[in-house]
Amino acid sequence: MSDSPMRLLAGALRQNGLVRFIEHFNKLFPNSRSHLKDLVVDRMRPNRVMEVEGRTVVNFGSDSFLGLDQDPRVLEAIKSGVETWGAHNGASRAFSSVRANTDAEDKLAAWLGTEATLIYPSVTLANMGAIPGLVGKQDLLVVDEQAHNSIQEGAKIAKANGVRVITFSHCDPRGLKKVLDEAGEYRVAVVAIDGVYSMTGELPPLAELNEVALARRAVLYVDDAHGTGVIGAKGRGTVLDALGSYDNTLVIGSLSKGFSCAGGFIGCTHEFKRLLKMRSNTYIFGGPVVPPYLEAVCVVCDILESGEYDLLRARLDRNLAQFANGLKNMGLVVSGGVTPIVSVLVGDEEDTLNGGQFLFEKGYYVQSVTFPAVPYHAGVLRIQVNANHLTESITGLLNAMKALQGAIKLPTAMTAAPPRLAA
Ligand SMILES: Cc1ncc(COP(=O)(O)O)c(C=O)c1O
Repeated sequence: MSDSPMRLLAGALRQNGLVRFIEHFNKLFPNSRSHLKDLVVDRMRPNRVMEVEGRTVVNFGSDSFLGLDQDPRVLEAIKSGVETWGAHNGASRAFSSVRANTDAEDKLAAWLGTEATLIYPSVTLANMGAIPGLVGKQDLLVVDEQAHNSIQEGAKIAKANGVRVITFSHCDPRGLKKVLDEAGEYRVAVVAIDGVYSMTGELPPLAELNEVALARRAVLYVDDAHGTGVIGAKGRGTVLDALGSYDNTLVIGSLSKGFSCAGGFIGCTHEFKRLLKMRSNTYIFGGPVVPPYLEAVCVVCDILESGEYDLLRARLDRNLAQFANGLKNMGLVVSGGVTPIVSVLVGDEEDTLNGGQFLFEKGYYVQSVTFPAVPYHAGVLRIQVNANHLTESITGLLNAMKALQGAIKLPTAMTAAPPRLAA
């Protein structure tokens, strides 16, 4: 019997390099408990405790940095939003928006300090809609080589539309200058970067990149998904903190991480909001963030604008300082720490997965991140510190990491090659 098209398709997919790489590790780690991917969480408890795969562990893998996912006011806004709007408004925003959507956009803009914001269903969809929408055939799109996957995917769509797309070396203003100087003629350029590199917690040199961009007719497009709510005054993010204005920047923020709601947004002028509504296919042809979550976004804006933000931030800073100081004493190769993301270099892929499993067995879930999310052989244990972690949980994780040092040879500042995380 000849193979069916379905079987042929699956066979073809299994030839893919990345699929072969992942399947190799699936064989080495045959159940999800030891592989620590595709985990199923059965229950979330207070203070980042969760029940997963029959075990109670402390979750150090949450992007809800401020702990607002369990805030009673946020939960109440979602509940009353369901009563007001139902589960879904059932239309693309190209036709209509609910009042909660325009309220959330206005509140976001007032908090962020931009004229306007435009909400998308996610940051991924913002990048995949706005990036190709912003540039045309006479323009240039320049992308940091390590920009988030969703920026790279947006750039692929732009390229397929005939836009010239060039990458520049990671976080390198001189690299950016070189590619812009050598690019020849262009009408205008957009330079797309992350505001926080989410696998390493590293920040780009925004002021220098902006100086290069400004001098060469280029606008910065900064995906600040991981900076939203946690960097700068009132958590307004990396751009305002580093540049003091949005004059040459389109800033993209997340509503799913520090905000603990759902969605993404672009902070911009009224003019760009109007233009992006016309030019973003993911906005026009897709559905919106569901209304109850937009009510929650309004509540989170109020919290960030209030004096309470400083208390939340102080709790997060205290936890982050405790963790960072503890790590420093171990001599490990660590990146991040300016934001609540801290990455500890392991290197080898198998060691990285084993390291995550070791900590899990001790009662702490951290993310084992391997290629392709980081360069090959630059695997890291990625730890997200949250405001609602307990001091004893952080002490416990540090003790578990000390035990891990005895079980797996982790690179130290003395033994490691220069950190390859930003290679
Ligand atoms: C820089 C960056 N952009 C986009 C995303 C994806 O965001 P979303 O889940 O809203 O699509 C992430 C996720 O971690 C990210 O780090």
